Amino acid sequence: MSEYIRQNILDMPGYIPGEQPKKGEAVKMNTNENPYRASESVYEAIRRTADEGLSRYPNSTGESFRLAASDVLGIPADWILCGNGSDDILTILTRAFVPENGLLRLAYPSYILYRSLAQIQGAASEEVLFNIDWTLPDYFGKAPQTETLCHLRPIPEAPLGLVYLPVPNSPSGTVIPKERLLEFAESLPCPLLIDEAYADFAKENCIDLVRQTPKIMISRTLSKSYSLAGLRFGFLIARPETISELIKVKDSYNCDSLSIAAATAAITDQKWRLENREKILATRRYLTDRMRRLGFTVPDSQANFTWNVHPDRTVSHKAVYEYLKDHGYLVRYMVYPGWEKIAGRDDGLRITVGTPEQTEECLDLIEKFLS
Ligand SMILES: Cc1ncc(COP(=O)(O)O)c(C=O)c1O
Repeated sequence: MSEYIRQNILDMPGYIPGEQPKKGEAVKMNTNENPYRASESVYEAIRRTADEGLSRYPNSTGESFRLAASDVLGIPADWILCGNGSDDILTILTRAFVPENGLLRLAYPSYILYRSLAQIQGAASEEVLFNIDWTLPDYFGKAPQTETLCHLRPIPEAPLGLVYLPVPNSPSGTVIPKERLLEFAESLPCPLLIDEAYADFAKENCIDLVRQTPKIMISRTLSKSYSLAGLRFGFLIARPETISELIKVKDSYNCDSLSIAAATAAITDQKWRLENREKILATRRYLTDRMRRLGFTVPDSQANFTWNVHPDRTVSHKAVYEYLKDHGYLVRYMVYPGWEKIAGRDDGLRITVGTPEQTEECLDLIEKFLS
């Protein structure tokens, strides 16, 4: 059968999501999920919607969520597109903006899925390396030089369709200042998608930039700051004329009745979100300080995880990861081929903020391993 499958699919390795062990097998600090239970109003909304019956199709654009999000975020409802997780939003955008044999630009290291989306589309990804301090070079907004790119080479002369940039970035948790983002957007020949999966944990967000220029769009998710990774709900903020085109690209019913009702309840409960944010930020401070005291280099994170690299190459990140796993703690061991050119090492540990108890125990284990 494989002879019938498109060559670009046969050629690609496929995105590998973080490990999902069976419940109770390990403490999960590897996929940036929220360790706390979502707002009770979410569970009530799911029960109520299920009781009403599921025999009808859902509202195709998730109107109740758009209205609730519009209220909370201060943007009109028709500036919002609902998605089955923000990965669905990224898929819709790639399909709509990146031509086959075209080019998608991304900052590297960042979210590896962007590269897979380009490959599925039959496009190339042009990967601009971050600077060592996680700022971006000027040419991120212009035409990069081939030698300043990562290991993948752009297709010569291919049209640039879309640029992806997570703010805060994963794995670093760092942000690019808003003035800089605006500068990039203005110099780019295509739109800039700012992936705000972690923006609820940051000092500020970029929603006002969408008002300032139609070239900036923002994706959000309820997976992290609303504790709903299992639900699958994300959304896009963009100009209404863009949203109406993207509606043509999405699946007719890309969000189901249960997730629309649950997401509407979640975003309406801002008290829950703000309290949760305070808990995560306090534990993030503790995690950062202690990893630094253990000798790791940890950039200041504005997300719900930290990026930890040991400057001593004799300390194996992989060995730390394996030791933690053997002791029931799962963190993310990441390897970014090509990054060693900038950072000296191509790998590191991304640790998601857990509850204070989980975080403490994980840190105690790391300390034990190092001693
Ligand atoms: C930067 C970034 N964007 C998007 C996502 C996907 O989020 P969702 O669960 O909404 O698909 C993730 C998930 O880890 C992420 O790290």
